[in-house]
Amino acid sequence: MGHMHVLSLFFIQITLLVVMVAETKAKVPAIIVFGDSSVDTGNNNVISTVLKSNFKPYGRDFEGGLPTGRFCNGRLPPDFISEAFGLKPAIPAYLDPRYSISDFATGVCFASAGTGYDNATSDVLNVIPLWKELEHYKEYQNKLRAYVGDRKANKILSEALYLMSLGTNDFLENYYTFPTRRSQFTVRQYQDFLVGLARDFITDLYRLGGRKLSLTGVPPMGCLPLERTTNIMGQHECLPEYNDVSMEFNGKLEGMASQLKRELPGLKVVFTRTTYDTFSQIIRAPGAYGFQVTAMACCATGTFEMSYLCNEHSITCQDANKYVFWDAFHPTEKTNKIITQNLLPALLAEFQ
Ligand SMILES: *[C@@H]1O[C@H](CO)[C@@H](O)[C@H](O)[C@H]1NC(C)=O
Repeated sequence: MGHMHVLSLFFIQITLLVVMVAETKAKVPAIIVFGDSSVDTGNNNVISTVLKSNFKPYGRDFEGGLPTGRFCNGRLPPDFISEAFGLKPAIPAYLDPRYSISDFATGVCFASAGTGYDNATSDVLNVIPLWKELEHYKEYQNKLRAYVGDRKANKILSEALYLMSLGTNDFLENYYTFPTRRSQFTVRQYQDFLVGLARDFITDLYRLGGRKLSLTGVPPMGCLPLERTTNIMGQHECLPEYNDVSMEFNGKLEGMASQLKRELPGLKVVFTRTTYDTFSQIIRAPGAYGFQVTAMACCATGTFEMSYLCNEHSITCQDANKYVFWDAFHPTEKTNKIITQNLLPALLAEFQ
């Protein structure tokens, strides 16, 4: 009896010690995510949009083979980032009813596939606009304060790492698809308009207590299989015009981010072109990464299908690790993993 008692006390002490060490070591207590399908972990499952992926073969290589609403065969960059910071290996979607504030306290995703900086972009497929992602975040703050108390909540909110990844849909789903924005803006003016919206969003987030931000630029949009498919005259090569727009837009985002860092005391921002650069490197030399197919996606014909068009009746490739893209618009888990590996050194150096 006495021995048992001493032993269990000993274990309790060890446990406490481990918990304390973990608490002092984890400088980033939570990962909080805003953006589009590049980072949406399942919010679109519960809204009425045709842009969903909570069915097979999505999630085929996720734990348990589960289709979660991630537009991927497996995990997304925020999941890998969370794990690398010593937090959980998959970030729950805020609107997923299976999770509650106890889960969200260490990581939460407000992103919505199909959204953009521009309200008109989220209208196209009836998804969650960016301003509403921020409303959900405010609601989350209140829940967090009720759950852990004001002091602890404020600490979590100011020390959390915020991830932002969006912009592609503003160009491809909106600007180049519908005439309205094209009649109002040249593409350069539209870039400036979006950068202004990004600046406003980050400023709002700062006022709400956010201090550590990783801002992700857009990928080489002209190399997404869906865009290559339309390049009939160019033998389905990457569309240089769209890649140039990506590069210009990323440059402007980066300029805005460094300006905000000077204007807002205590704000830390890592702007990353890593997504663009990594995609470019992979597409230039796929073999170096073990990829065999870059121009077409793994799911279905690989030329245009995503969401409901990539479904359980689609003939899907055997080994997604040989493909850069999972569906016509979204990278495979392997690509996401490589992107994250390239991004992590900067994030860990700045925020851990
Ligand atoms: C987007 O819509 C919200 C809600 O209607 C509005 O508050 C906001 O000003 C809009 N943003 C722009 C840039 O029009």
